Amino acid sequence: MVRETTLAPQHLVLPLFVQAGRALETPIGSMPGCARLSVDRLVERAREAASLGVRGVALFPALDDSLKDPRGREAQNPEGLLQRAVRELKRQVPELCVITDVALDPYSSDGHDGVLIDGRIDNDETLPLLAAMAVAQARAGADMVAPSDMMDGRVAAIRKGLDEAGYTQVGILSYCVKYASAFYGPFREALDSAPRGGDKKTYQMDPANVREAAREVALDEAEGADMLMVKPATVYADVIRYVREISKLPVAAYHVSGEYAMLKAAAQNGWLDYDACLLEALLGLRRAGADVIFTYGALDAARLLRRAST
Ligand code: PBG
Repeated sequence: MVRETTLAPQHLVLPLFVQAGRALETPIGSMPGCARLSVDRLVERAREAASLGVRGVALFPALDDSLKDPRGREAQNPEGLLQRAVRELKRQVPELCVITDVALDPYSSDGHDGVLIDGRIDNDETLPLLAAMAVAQARAGADMVAPSDMMDGRVAAIRKGLDEAGYTQVGILSYCVKYASAFYGPFREALDSAPRGGDKKTYQMDPANVREAAREVALDEAEGADMLMVKPATVYADVIRYVREISKLPVAAYHVSGEYAMLKAAAQNGWLDYDACLLEALLGLRRAGADVIFTYGALDAARLLRRAST
């Protein structure tokens, strides 16, 4: 009767990994229950999510090395894997919000989110590539583009690119407060996208900082973001609360691959109850102030919530 916080399938977004081919499901070792899916399987999984009340999917492509180059040109290919996946999803499960990731790393032969020039990430050289990538995704039918690259000025560059191409209705979910985190390890295994050299600390945030989050929020709001994300989630619940309080925009939290892997690993050892811990972790993120939660456990959680409510 006096419960303050709710968790429902409508609050969840399911991240999915897409690969080339047909009828393929390649399990990801460090993310039990997750797989790289060919487009046909991706559509099935997305349909299942929608039928359980999940409102959105976030797509990440796993590309063959032969398609990667320093500028991630394949990201702009209208017939590229991700663009084909988006078109098929919007054709077959139109009610689902399709969110695409904007960053070069799955396409970059250097494994970085921006362009590497003379051993450094060149922020401003990266911006037009990100804008062109977002336009290619919008043209394929993406409802929201989600820049996760952390270059400065990318929300403005993407907004301008989308508007000029006529995609004024496509929203921008900015990975606004994204930390240089070790919890992304399993994701990088899933996409084979780990940096080939160096790290991401020159563009992602220092885990020690929270005032810096206010600067990121102010910039992204001014540049035209429609939703802000904090990532990772559970270790940064204080940051979610802080962003919730300083911004009127909807806030998303990304319960990342490492957070999911920890629950799965402990559960496989019989040390934790996965179902209960997953729901508790997600409810905690809602209590911290997240409107929306990206989680690899979205299907599991949606099923559990359904069962609990009937
Ligand atoms: C990269 C990107 C990453 C994730 C989402 N987009 C990894 C990174 O920044 O290296 C991580 C998601 C996860 O760990 O679940 N643009």
